[in-house]
Amino acid sequence: MPDDAKTTNRLHWEAQEKELAALMDKAMQPGGQKAVERLAKQGKKPVRELIGQLIDPATDFFELGVIAGFGMNYPEVEDVPCGGLVFGLGKIHGNWTLILANDSRIKAGTYFPITLKKHMRAQAIAERCGLNCVYISDSGGAFLPMQAEIFPDDQQFGSIFYNMARMSAKGLKQITLSTGGNTAGGAYIVFMACEAVMIDKLAYSFLGGPPLVKAATGEVISAEDLGGAKVHTGISGGADHFCKSQDEAVGKVRELLSMEKPRRPLIHREDPQAPKLPPESIYENLPVNIYQGIRIREILPALADGGIFLEYKKEYARGRGDNIVCGKMRIGGIPVGVIASNGAGIIFTQSARKATEWIIRCSHEKIPLLFLQNSPGYMVGSASEHEGIGKYGADMVRAVACAQVPRIQVAIGPDHGAANYGMCGRAYRPHFLFHTMRSRTSVMSGLSAASVLLTIEEKKREAAGKPMQEPEKQAFREKMAEKYGGEAHPFYCGARLYNDRVLKFDEIRKWLVMALEVSLLEPIGEPSFGNLRF
Ligand code: COA
Repeated sequence: MPDDAKTTNRLHWEAQEKELAALMDKAMQPGGQKAVERLAKQGKKPVRELIGQLIDPATDFFELGVIAGFGMNYPEVEDVPCGGLVFGLGKIHGNWTLILANDSRIKAGTYFPITLKKHMRAQAIAERCGLNCVYISDSGGAFLPMQAEIFPDDQQFGSIFYNMARMSAKGLKQITLSTGGNTAGGAYIVFMACEAVMIDKLAYSFLGGPPLVKAATGEVISAEDLGGAKVHTGISGGADHFCKSQDEAVGKVRELLSMEKPRRPLIHREDPQAPKLPPESIYENLPVNIYQGIRIREILPALADGGIFLEYKKEYARGRGDNIVCGKMRIGGIPVGVIASNGAGIIFTQSARKATEWIIRCSHEKIPLLFLQNSPGYMVGSASEHEGIGKYGADMVRAVACAQVPRIQVAIGPDHGAANYGMCGRAYRPHFLFHTMRSRTSVMSGLSAASVLLTIEEKKREAAGKPMQEPEKQAFREKMAEKYGGEAHPFYCGARLYNDRVLKFDEIRKWLVMALEVSLLEPIGEPSFGNLRF
């Protein structure tokens, strides 16, 4: 790529990532300094400070779902910054642990539909990867105006406690650090824990708060006397450890997890090596135009240890098998099987067959899979159909669905249609799914959708005797392109948790190391691919 184009690309993606950083800041500072001061008056720190104290010194907290909740347009509330809940992965005494914390600055930490979705996602990661969980709870429970959308169904409020019960039965510690109100349903986060820590005069837990008790029974009682830390650690037995401050409580949680069995990734890992190319090369090599082809072989050396990539079937069906590049590399010393879009990323029969073979091979070898997605879809047209793109594309989808090894997707470009399935989109339950500022996830591109819908609209209008004029058609195309562009954008997807995080290009490697380590804590089972027929 010429130097001019490289500079243009780099400047563009850096500017895009500044927008990402601004949105993340907004998510992390709800209510600004005023809200921090209000917390301080209550004797509380912002939750990320508490999490920083909880994890091992000088380690990172890998926060997921940071931009969840923007533009939700709920009754009374347009944005729920960060979905009202912080969650991520950090190490406690060297063990990866899932940490989840209500942010009481956002409507008293109450649960909106997006908060529940986030809570469920966090617990799903913990259960699948066998992680202990710490819940820093400070929540007014259900966001009452929306009870119908958060209370009755599976994956709604009750599932929080169902998941806690089942995870603790599997031996995964469920520790609650209660640092605020836990009313009604929310009280179960204290009572369902394996061990719960409560803070004097800060933490409360009751099935009905003082106003409800008065209305129901006439009893007049303070929150402290009804369900404070002294009541539950000294009288009811509903909580286990009494602390006087947040600092003491965080120390107690660390202590409770200090005797856990050390757990390390179950894979043949070597000493990590730096990649051959610097991260800036990724910025330079990804074209500004999302639909312009990419050269993935120039990007992989910025991710792979030592830049070493062992390509599989490199010579096979050049031009048609080459739109997906497969091979092995190590990231942070961990071996991974790579399935990466190349060029324009359109998946031809040959590339689908190659990818299917590779997925099955890696599954037999029990090495995790990394999908680098930059594909607008499978090839259409009679030549492709007759060659069996439907069948071989379906084989690829089946292999992705059945592969029992950890799977991670990073989208670095178009992510449309069935290529979303074949490259392990959300519905295929990758262990982690990351977007970047170049990803666009939608059923098809805005322009394709516009032409399909325009054809239908034109037919209707002709039948009605009012054919569409060119300016009208153009306006229609532009409107569709804008709508699809907006909905496919990583911010839109991140707000709805269609991704786990939007990554900057220069942090992809670091996040992959974390994701691989965490995904490999549980043993990998035996491969089984069901109804594959070549
Ligand atoms: N549903 C909807 N909104 C709620 C809410 C709930 N369950 N609980 C609190 N809020 C809102 C408040 O209306 C307030 O909104 P505003 O900022 O727009 O004025 C905001 O959250 C902060 O609440 P506030 O009471 O000022 O915070 P606090 O820190 O003084 O007290 C609680 C926190 C949780 C102790 C207290 O809000 C409370 O008791 N809430 C009701 C809890 C309850 O009964 N829940 C039942 C759920 S099953």
